[in-house]
Amino acid sequence: MKPVDTSGCDVHVLVCVNRRDGSSMPSCCRDGQEAGEEVYEALRAWIEAEGLLTRVWLTRTACLGWCHRDGATLVFYPEGAWYRGVTAEDCPALIEKHIAAAVGSGGAVDGG
Ligand code: FES
Repeated sequence: MKPVDTSGCDVHVLVCVNRRDGSSMPSCCRDGQEAGEEVYEALRAWIEAEGLLTRVWLTRTACLGWCHRDGATLVFYPEGAWYRGVTAEDCPALIEKHIAAAVGSGGAVDGG
């Protein structure tokens, strides 16, 4: 076993893209509602455009346990800030609050 050096990572974002098509249970992606994937793509596009792929880690996950019908669940570490019911339209504000501030980015947040 070897420890992983995470010293280069300023922010790690976990985005649930769990899918439950045809289920009565809420899910971050289901039956044409693709919030998890859309949120992931919006964050990924901004991180890539800012050249922050090595400093801001973005990971798709299975169910994080805070499922919501209206959007995705995600969490920002090391801050430990959790959100549920997130849509791509929420991403600019989340980026501003939890990523841009942490990395000192002055890049415009216009994704969504
Ligand atoms: S399905 Fe996304 S948090 Fe449960």
